[in-house]
Amino acid sequence: MAIASRVLETARIQLRPLTLDDAAGLHAAYGDAQVMRFWDGPPTADIAETAQRIRRSLAVGRKWHAAWAVVLKDTGQLAGMVNYHTREPWNHRLTVGWILARPYWRQGLAREAMAALLDHCFTRLDTHRVEAEIEPENTASIRLAERLGFQREGVLRDRLLVAGSYRDIHLYGLLRPDWRWPR
Ligand SMILES: CC(C)(COP(=O)(O)OP(=O)(O)OC[C@H]1O[C@@H](n2cnc3c(N)ncnc32)[C@H](O)[C@@H]1OP(=O)(O)O)[C@@H](O)C(=O)NCCC(=O)NCCS
Repeated sequence: MAIASRVLETARIQLRPLTLDDAAGLHAAYGDAQVMRFWDGPPTADIAETAQRIRRSLAVGRKWHAAWAVVLKDTGQLAGMVNYHTREPWNHRLTVGWILARPYWRQGLAREAMAALLDHCFTRLDTHRVEAEIEPENTASIRLAERLGFQREGVLRDRLLVAGSYRDIHLYGLLRPDWRWPR
């Protein structure tokens, strides 16, 4: 797929493929312990470590994993990142992830960005099932998933190792026939 066709747009946001040049901007999220509270990896210590994380993500082929920078159209600021990963094209299934730096929380930006990504997955990538793995205490992510139409399907015990302890996660699923652009 050409780069241009991987740029997704909403009213307020442009999603463009994440690059190493986004390390400084994304460090506001990856380097913040509060933002990373539910992430299965510690906050990054500096921009170089954030760049390393991006480099690892870019090393995986787009067939399996792809990440987009969430950019505010009016200011050009990088608010965060959304991705799909663990894609199994033969099962028409993938998992999504999301993260925004704190100044951008609670403005409907994650909902808008994820709606664009989900629409891309369902209509362009021939995806049938999208999953999200969310810790029970991650209220913001649970609300976001529900707002996007995901249903909670079950508990996976000791699924993630976060800050040295195993954590249960709730598996959320969204099927293509149920996908609607959220209001
Ligand atoms: C999860 C996250 C992306 C949400 O971003 P956001 O832009 O603030 O979300 P939105 O403003 O689009 O809100 C989506 C819904 O969640 C609700 N919400 C957001 N933050 C909330 C919070 N802290 N508590 C309760 N509800 C919350 C909103 O009210 C909205 O619901 P509504 O439409 O019914 O009002 C952001 O909190 C974040 O980056 N968290 C840390 C990273 C993370 O945990 N990633 C997921 C790992 S599984």
